[in-house]
Amino acid sequence: MTNRSLLILPGDGIGPEVMAEVRKIIDWFGTRGLAFHVSEDLVGGAAYDAHGTPLHDDTMAKAQEVDAVLLGAVGGPKYDVLDFSVKPERGLLRLRKEMDLFANLRPAQCFDALADFSSLKKEVVSGLDIMIVRELTSGVYFGEPRGIHVEGNERVGINTQRYTESEIDRVARAAFDLARKRDGRLCSMEKANVMESGILWREVVQAVGDKDYPDVELSHMYADAGAMQLTRWPKQFDVIVTDNLFGDLLSDLAAMLTGSLGMLPSASLGAPMENGRPKALYEPVHGSAPDIAGQGKANPIACILSFAMALRYSFDLGAEAGRLEKAVEDVLADGLRTADLLGKEGATPVSTAEMGDAIVTKLATSA
Ligand code: NAI
Ligand code: MG
Repeated sequence: MTNRSLLILPGDGIGPEVMAEVRKIIDWFGTRGLAFHVSEDLVGGAAYDAHGTPLHDDTMAKAQEVDAVLLGAVGGPKYDVLDFSVKPERGLLRLRKEMDLFANLRPAQCFDALADFSSLKKEVVSGLDIMIVRELTSGVYFGEPRGIHVEGNERVGINTQRYTESEIDRVARAAFDLARKRDGRLCSMEKANVMESGILWREVVQAVGDKDYPDVELSHMYADAGAMQLTRWPKQFDVIVTDNLFGDLLSDLAAMLTGSLGMLPSASLGAPMENGRPKALYEPVHGSAPDIAGQGKANPIACILSFAMALRYSFDLGAEAGRLEKAVEDVLADGLRTADLLGKEGATPVSTAEMGDAIVTKLATSA
């Protein structure tokens, strides 16, 4: 593999539309001497149409080799009739599972120009920039025993919260590494007051911090208190690490502090590869948005910010990532808005392609 390899999987619906805008940005970096070896392939419904499977084995193999995978979105009404085993979502799930992507990164970042979109007061969210790291491959969604059994004359539903030390250790390290690249602060959330898995979580995270990350300021919080603090004063946090269940809730909560689904990027990281970079899949949080697909209405920013995360976390290009994020911020400050962000007077409505072009122009004119 050449240096900086990237596999692009546009997928379905608005996936290819938003990915086309990311391609413009990748091409622009290429003209500035920052080349990426890009290959493109099919996933989801598009892969099913071509191969009868939502993820071809060759594509899976490629994903295992590259430095980073960038995915658009999968799914759509056309595929609702398919058998569960070949549904578009299965392609994405297979990627996550076989790449063993155990750390899901969900930033909640508020661009000043969009602070009005939040359900919270402007001063509470403006300038907000936090990151939630959710454990993604273990915990109560996977623990055994599970199921619905009959006991006596009634049914009982069972799920088991289960974490091994090594599972906690590896996600803690991913979070500490991130904190180091950011503001140097990490808050770990569990329910050590009522759950043994929470006691173990707290002990292991503390031990990892004491041993290998003494430079990162570590704190612990019960997850319910964390939910309150996230809505009261989210800017007190930098990086938050938590388990699969609490992370599911807290990352959705944090995301909505900042407004539209069309703005939200994500990353899922696995174990370090031979070159030291973690296995990584970057994707917008949103889906294939069939209601607006093919109309040039999609907001490409979530996908563009996902690529910015790839720059920072897979390629150690933090300065370039910051520059791209600044270009997005500046374009929004200029009043450019895709349809999902309209509503305020003084905004300039733009199409998907116009938004992408404007971001490239900002990049080109920034110092
Ligand atoms: P969705 O995220 O696709 O859309 C929800 C709403 O947000 C729609 O009104 C849509 O128009 C709007 N929206 C989403 N992204 C936008 C963007 N970038 N710009 C402007 N507006 C945007 O979720 P929905 O409707 O529940 O699911 C649609 C399809 O996507 C389904 O087949 C679902 O299974 C799939 N899906 C795929 C995901 C993935 O690939 N990771 C995640 C969520 C859903
Ligand atoms: Mg969720």
